[in-house]
Parts: sequence; structure tokens; C-alpha cells
Amino acid sequence: MTIDIIARVIFSIRLHTQKTSNNMVNAFSRLLTDASEFSPTGHFLRAINPFRYYKRISDERSISFSHLKLTISIVDSQMEAYIKGKISSKSTAEKSWKSASQGDILDLALTDPEYGSEASTSELVDQLKTFFFAGHDTTASTITWSYYFLSHTPSALARLRAELDDVFGVDTLPADVARQLNADPKLHTKLEYTLSVIKESLRLEPPAAPAREAPANYAFRTSTGATIAPPKGVMVYTSAWLLHHNPRVWGEDANEFRPERFMPGSPIPWGYMPFSKRPRDCIGSTLAYLEAKIILALTARQFDFEPSVKFYRVLKGTVLHFAQ
Ligand code: HEM
Repeated sequence: MTIDIIARVIFSIRLHTQKTSNNMVNAFSRLLTDASEFSPTGHFLRAINPFRYYKRISDERSISFSHLKLTISIVDSQMEAYIKGKISSKSTAEKSWKSASQGDILDLALTDPEYGSEASTSELVDQLKTFFFAGHDTTASTITWSYYFLSHTPSALARLRAELDDVFGVDTLPADVARQLNADPKLHTKLEYTLSVIKESLRLEPPAAPAREAPANYAFRTSTGATIAPPKGVMVYTSAWLLHHNPRVWGEDANEFRPERFMPGSPIPWGYMPFSKRPRDCIGSTLAYLEAKIILALTARQFDFEPSVKFYRVLKGTVLHFAQ
């Protein structure tokens, strides 16, 4: 669902990925799975897999850099086709193209007076790939975790459902909720508790965090007063997960799911950073909140949720998720 949404936001195309297969989406998903095999997490998960020796043979056959390159080229060529399609409609009917502009991200990039005329197609492909990736997996994870925490916290689920009843009317079906939201685009701003559920889920399970390459002569001080000077080029990763679970920032109930801490009037600690911090924080936070709010509004009263996976806390500060 979040892929369908981001595709509309970027190119105004409807992919219908929940009903049909799409080459670009399949390649993208394959790319992410394969790329994670090369990551430290991928190596760690392989190391603890009892079937690793058998698996390695098939992995090595199926995952190679040339294979990754091929998958990337499928994503790139499809994105290029979308971009070129839009650029050619621009040159054939400049005026109508502009007036018909749906204000998607590609439109904004192409009409930007400083950027649009200068950007090469391959640069646009790279930018849009970033949006495509950054804009769907994170939001999907946030919605999934919201369902997970609600399924474990009946009081929060009851309060969320009561808010939806208040705002949309008792027993309103999803189609009616959607109609009300379309008729009054600001209606979602009344969903304060729903938004707090999303923020609290993002606190406990932030799906992303910033990493920066250390410049020359860079040093930082830890909370214990030690000074650390990573060599130039080392990637420094700020763990939002650790900050979000720190009792010194959130209090003794730091590990508990308590959406109330985000209700209006409660100060939000500076240590809250699911979207990173300025100057280069996430450009899509408003869209992500909006998507998650609307999806919860449409589904949370229609379905009861229960987790299909078990979770084990194996290392301090690390949660590993194993499908049963
Ligand atoms: C709950 C959902 C989301 C979370 C938790 C999230 C989180 C983040 C984080 C932590 C960063 C890194 C910022 C940094 O490097 O300091 C980031 C970057 C980014 N996000 Fe999001 N994001 C979400 C949804 C979205 C959406 C919906 C979009 C698309 C509209 C989006 C577009 C981007 C882009 C383009 C970047 C790259 C910025 C850059 O390279 O400087 N994100 N996001």
C-alpha cells in the first residue's frame, strides 16, 4: 500500500501493487533483500543460521555484484521511462503539461527554475529512487508497529477507537471515513490520539536513523565524558533506538508503550528523532504521519490485530525479529 502511495506522490502513477505484479517494484524489493545480504546485519543473521553452510552455496550462486547491477538497471530503466514520458509530454504541449501538472515530486523537480532545466535524467533517476526507497518501507514499518503495539495494549486501542468514533461517527464504514476525509481535508488534524499512537510506535521502533561520514579531525564526547575521534571517512551512526529507550530521557517507563506522552501539552524531549534532526532531517515526515493516520482511521475499527511473529530480545539494545 505504501508503495502505491509513494508512486502516486512521485510520478502520479497508479501501480496497484496489492493486486498486480510490477517489474520495477519486484526489482526494487529484490534489490533491498540482496543488498541486505552484504550488510553487517545480513552477515550476522547468516552467522547464527544453523543451515548457513547449505544456504551459502545457493546465496553465492544467486547473489553477486553483477546480479545486483542487473537488478539496479531494471529499476533505473523503468524510472527513466516514467521521467522521459513526462518530459516528452512537456515539450510537445508545454502549456497544457504545466496546467495539467498534478504537483507530484517529478513535476516539482522539472518545473524548479534552478534545478529542473539543469538536472540530467540519471540525476533525476537517482533522486527519485531515494524518494521511492525512503518513502515506503519506513512508513509501512511504522504502521505495522502501530498495529503491533495496539494489539498488546487494549487500553490504547480502546482510546484510539473512541477517538475515531468521535471524529467520524460511531459505526462508520471505511468508505464513509474516506468520504469525510475527502470532503474536509483538515479533518485528520482532530486525530490527536491516533497521531500520538504513531509517534509512540516510532519512538519504540524507529525504522531509520542518520549516518554521517566523519570529516578529518572530527571528535565527539560521550555521555560518560570520554572523547572519541573516529578516523576520517568512518561512518558514525546515531542510534535513534537507543536514545528512544533511554530512561534518562523518557523516565522509568521508557520501554512502555504510552501514547499519552505525545498528547498536546506534553513536552517532547529533544532526544526524539525518528526523522533525524535538522539541517538534514526527513523531508517526508508530514506525509508519513498523514498516511499512517489515514490508514489507522480506515482500519483500526474494522480489524483486530494479533502478531504473526515472535520477538526475542537477544542483545542489550538490539531486538531481533524471527518469523515463526
Ligand atoms: C515513518 C516514516 C519515515 C521515517 C521514520 C523516515 C526517517 C528518515 C530518516 C531518519 C532520514 C535520514 C535523515 C538524515 O540523514 O539525517 C530520512 C531521510 C529521507 N527521507 Fe524519510 N522517513 C520516513 C518517511 C519518508 C517519506 C514518506 C518520504 C517521501 C516523501 C521520505 C523521504 C526521505 C528522503 C528523500 C530522505 C533523504 C534525505 C537526504 O538524503 O538528505 N521519508 N528519513
